[in-house]
Amino acid sequence: MKTIFSGIQPTGTLTIGNYLGAMKQFVELQHDYNCYFCIVDEHAITVPQERIKLRDNIRSLAALYLASGINPEKSTLFIQSEVSAHTQLGWMLQCVAYIGELERMTQFKDKSTGKEAVSAGLLTYPPLMAADILLYNTDIVPVGDDQKQHIELTRDLAERFNRKYNDIFTIPEPRIPKVGARIMSLQNPTKKMSKSDENQKATIFMLDDEKKIEKKIKSAVTDSVGTVQYDPENRPGISSLLTIYSSFTDEKVETIVERYEGKGYGEFKQDLAEKVVDVLSPIQKRYYELVESAELDTVLDNGADKAEEQASKMLQKAKKAMGLGRVKKNK
Ligand code: TYM
Repeated sequence: MKTIFSGIQPTGTLTIGNYLGAMKQFVELQHDYNCYFCIVDEHAITVPQERIKLRDNIRSLAALYLASGINPEKSTLFIQSEVSAHTQLGWMLQCVAYIGELERMTQFKDKSTGKEAVSAGLLTYPPLMAADILLYNTDIVPVGDDQKQHIELTRDLAERFNRKYNDIFTIPEPRIPKVGARIMSLQNPTKKMSKSDENQKATIFMLDDEKKIEKKIKSAVTDSVGTVQYDPENRPGISSLLTIYSSFTDEKVETIVERYEGKGYGEFKQDLAEKVVDVLSPIQKRYYELVESAELDTVLDNGADKAEEQASKMLQKAKKAMGLGRVKKNK
């Protein structure tokens, strides 16, 4: 069976972008693959985090994974910082990576440009992500469009390591969904929807209630044409809402466009809000049951043990390949 690995940062409530680009795929894929899903808290600290808030976000993300349908009997769900092999291999891969290629990462440029104090961790973020993936002999990495460049770098680092030391790493492939790989801001449909957008109206969070969802969709930026048509180049607002509709319902965009022929944005937006609520409200109900439960701790404990078992084997192989660790005198 092929192996899947993916991770999400515990940096605030997930958005419907995280859900449609990543989580929804994870839930579907777990039936056919050996899956590892990670709460990447060590990536979160590449930018300043408040201790208590980070603890809450880790727990909240774990509960959201389960509430969205990750089944711990099928998938291994764990917290990155509980498996020390990640930072260890991360360091080794930092020594394989070049500063130039890390500086070229668009995520690094976006997060560092104009900032006075940028942590070294923000630059060395991608080798840690490569370690996450390579520790598990991962074949496929399901992610949204914005992570594609990081997966390409992971492949480069794995190939470089394999050539230079020993051929031990599986070269992973990204898996980007056809629809929903890049959900856009509701207020600026040429910009990606993001957890950290200062304008709250731009983002639908997975824990937003019905009223908030309705309000945000109703105030989503469209245009003055008034017809429900898909034309991302010229009419990004309505096209982005059609993408959200299509991703939530698994209906083709053309089918939806046909349904709203001769109808205005008002009716379309009202229906879209209902579709989003239909999917999110059962997830939210399960989330609130899970987030304070002891069951969550058991799942995370078991997940860390399972991940550790696999990761430590791979780490030993990588150390041996590089010549690290103690070697008996006569060897
Ligand atoms: P993160 O936490 O920013 O996002 C988690 C996942 O959500 C996807 N995503 C989106 N998809 C569609 N539309 C959007 N607007 C949108 N916003 C976010 C992301 O593409 C991602 O799949 N570096 C990663 C975390 C990571 C990781 C890994 C991923 C660490 N190690 C190993 C895969 C494998 C990140 O910051 O994701």
